[in-house]
Amino acid sequence: MWGGRFAEGPSAIMREINASIPFDKALWRQDIAASKAHVAMLAQQGIVSSEDAAAIAGGLDTVASEYEASGVPENWDLEDIHMTTESRLAELIGPAAGRLHTARSRNDQVATDFRLWVRDAIDHADAGLEALQKALVTRAGEHAASIMPGFTHLQTAQPVTLGHHLMAYYEMAARDRSRFADARARMNRSPLGAAALAGTGFPIDRHMTAAALGFDGPTANSLDSVSDRDFALDYLMSAAQTALHLSRLAEEFIIWASQPFGFVRLPDSLSTGSSIMPQKKNPDAAELVRSHSGRIVGCLTALMITMKGLPLAYSKDMQDDKPPVFEAAGLLTLCLAAMTGMVAETTFRTDRMRAAAELGYATATDLADWLVRQANIPFREAHHITGAAVKLAESRGAALDQLPLAELKAIDARIDERVYAALSVEASVAARASHGGTAPVEVGKRVAEARAALGLE
Ligand code: ARG
Repeated sequence: MWGGRFAEGPSAIMREINASIPFDKALWRQDIAASKAHVAMLAQQGIVSSEDAAAIAGGLDTVASEYEASGVPENWDLEDIHMTTESRLAELIGPAAGRLHTARSRNDQVATDFRLWVRDAIDHADAGLEALQKALVTRAGEHAASIMPGFTHLQTAQPVTLGHHLMAYYEMAARDRSRFADARARMNRSPLGAAALAGTGFPIDRHMTAAALGFDGPTANSLDSVSDRDFALDYLMSAAQTALHLSRLAEEFIIWASQPFGFVRLPDSLSTGSSIMPQKKNPDAAELVRSHSGRIVGCLTALMITMKGLPLAYSKDMQDDKPPVFEAAGLLTLCLAAMTGMVAETTFRTDRMRAAAELGYATATDLADWLVRQANIPFREAHHITGAAVKLAESRGAALDQLPLAELKAIDARIDERVYAALSVEASVAARASHGGTAPVEVGKRVAEARAALGLE
């Protein structure tokens, strides 16, 4: 493509290090679409004849059907998807193919193709997150009143409902979707027509190509257009944040599935056995979601470091923008599907959860709150009195509500028999009906809002 200036061809190493076709062939649909938009514009502006434009458009359709049928050929001499397609077009239609590259460069071409690809990846991530949200609200609705221990420091803290716990992940997924939506709105400008870096002397219409490709309009600065990879970073940041959430959810399932907890029976379809220990059922899918999330963060780091020192405008370093984005997108799709399946199909062992909520003096705060409300004791003092009650219960190996009233009264005479009503785990969760609290009625409200937002029912 540039033979005119060179006496010698590239060395084998140069060909190999330069070739991006092994990975950027994934952009072929976007490359064909952008070329078709470009040549239609060149014809409308009278920059190429309508006959040549028609031959080019028809040839591009043929190339597309060839790629569809037998894949994109990988010839390192042709470097990348742009040259591979143009060279095949020339074989098919002859010299008119050479007019396609008028008023553009591979720099604006790849920036355009990649934006289109990332835009689709955002839509795909959004659909995956929506499916996860649907699974979460469905299970949360079933378990709005199922009681489990709530933890801080992974120590029993206060009873919560399983529905509330699951809806916490619904909220995370909602933020993830809004982060992807922000990224999409920001990236949806067309760099096509920025050409190599400075724009072009041909009378192109960038608004026309932008509209044809579904962009909101053209980008404003040609140097920025070919050097900007913020859209890819925005995507990776959103993906990384989503991956962190999925990893935390995976970790919950891993803990819950362990025998001392026994809170869940994972679906067989998302577990594996052991080749030596016949009793084992391992949470491998969840563990791999946890590890894949680390790889996704690695992809973000890789592109951030690739971009950080680059002067304007295009540098070849930027060819390496694609593998981390492709890798992250593939991993994210898998992780979303795995966690959606896990949420939808896990058996929650609510009997075990409820029994665990009875342990660990989870209603101690309720005793303190009762002392504040019924005996008008300052919270700090109530906290102290309750601490003494917990100590006593611990020495007896009993739950708080199993302590006889006489013994509670010996700790503080203001305690009376009404306290027992406050000490059950049901009373504890029902009491926490503040906005966003764990009370079944509050959880039910939020589930209903979420179902409406998701268009369920
Ligand atoms: N394959 C290249 C990339 O992905 C296309 C742009 C090449 N531009 C250039 N001036 N060498 O970045």
